[in-house]
Amino acid sequence: MLGRQGVDHELTTVEGIGDYNNLHPIQQAFIDEQGFQCGFCTPGQVMSAVALLNSNPSPTREEVRVGLSGNLCRCGAYEHYINGVLRASGQLA
Ligand code: FES
Repeated sequence: MLGRQGVDHELTTVEGIGDYNNLHPIQQAFIDEQGFQCGFCTPGQVMSAVALLNSNPSPTREEVRVGLSGNLCRCGAYEHYINGVLRASGQLA
């Protein structure tokens, strides 16, 4: 999404879903699954995951992969992020 596409729409950023003492379940699941390394891509991964689970609370691994596909991770932590989303959806212990 380009910034201009947000005109006249409500936008929520990663700062709006949790904080250091009260993490969003996606943030906690990413920590539990070691879902980030440098953290450069993490805000986008988190917000894509939140949007995905809001529209599809029980996605398949492939649906998660597609849902996060707009985020490029130079560290290659994709499988950790996918596991984090599945964990947050209750599909991974
Ligand atoms: Fe480094 Fe994704 S964790 S770019």
